Amino acid sequence: MRVLITGGAGFIGSHLVDHLRARGDEVVVLDSFVPTYDLRRKEENVRASGLSEGAVGPARLVRGDLRDRALLDRLLPHVDAVVHLAALAGVRDSLDDPAAYVDVNIVGTQTLLDAMHAAGLRRLVFASSSSVYGARPDGDTFTEDDPADRPVSPYAATKRAGELLCHAAHAAWGLDVSCLRFFTVYGPRQRPAMAIARFTSLVLAGETLPLFGDGSSLRDYTFVGDAVRGIACALDRPQGFAVINLGCGSPIRLDDLVAAIGRAADRRVRVEHLPEQPGDVPRTHADISRAGALLDWRPQVALDEGLAAYLAWVRARDGV
Ligand SMILES: NC(=O)c1ccc[n+]([C@@H]2O[C@H](COP(=O)([O-])OP(=O)(O)OC[C@H]3O[C@@H](n4cnc5c(N)ncnc54)[C@H](O)[C@@H]3O)[C@@H](O)[C@H]2O)c1
Repeated sequence: MRVLITGGAGFIGSHLVDHLRARGDEVVVLDSFVPTYDLRRKEENVRASGLSEGAVGPARLVRGDLRDRALLDRLLPHVDAVVHLAALAGVRDSLDDPAAYVDVNIVGTQTLLDAMHAAGLRRLVFASSSSVYGARPDGDTFTEDDPADRPVSPYAATKRAGELLCHAAHAAWGLDVSCLRFFTVYGPRQRPAMAIARFTSLVLAGETLPLFGDGSSLRDYTFVGDAVRGIACALDRPQGFAVINLGCGSPIRLDDLVAAIGRAADRRVRVEHLPEQPGDVPRTHADISRAGALLDWRPQVALDEGLAAYLAWVRARDGV
């Protein structure tokens, strides 16, 4: 299969490149290298994935913007499917510049859908997010048919809007779309602003960790290898239109996460509790039965194992 991966120079996208290449697929990455974090990290990602900028080849990199319709029109005739990961990601930053999130995540997604329709291309996997569920009452697991109309950050609202636009494209034009709701993906190459990356750097530097809230917030963490295997399963099993959770199904308390990072790093951990942040939800908890039923997908990497892989990558990269 020839697959266009938007956002393929980023964290999840670069792992997806490796996964699809390893099974013999050809990939074209479209990424604008937006400076949401150190661009050297994205350059390292594309080098590690063996992408080249020539016009031909099984693993191509195209530097360009998702919203550039003429560019999409040139690229799409050469692929069989699209995985749409390009986005401004992250809840907290979206509160600083919501209009930019709307532009990239909503206008960008619609531009892609329009171009796919024009090119007669039908198969799309869209990166959605657990944040669309909003702040939910204690005890509930998050199932895909639950209402998702009370987002608490602009980022979450743009991801839900993306799902709705994908559904409209499915209904109007017959596009085959799987919207995958990722639950806090972590692992090597992860975005530096994500909690596990920030906490790990501080723990290794012997510094105090700022914890938002009292440590009781819950997150469902998903190792990046599991996430990209889920994307590949979705590419292989078109569903018409489906929304599917990809998570681990067993949430971890924030203070337990911090303790696990301390164990993995073999360091003492000191924390300072700070007030909750706007935009953050108190808990996420995926019901992953649909992913099992439709994609034959289950997470395989437990948190301690995933953290050990992350720590090994950090130590190899930074020599700490
Ligand atoms: N990492 C997670 O925990 C998580 C959770 C839920 C959803 N997601 C979603 O998964 C996708 C990938 O996330 P990630 O963590 O790898 O983030 P990332 O920031 O590392 O990757 C996103 C990539 O998209 C590119 N990009 C941004 N705007 C673009 C544009 N206009 N045109 C072309 N490329 C553009 C960026 O340069 C970046 O390389 C995103 O859609 C994100 O919202 C991630």
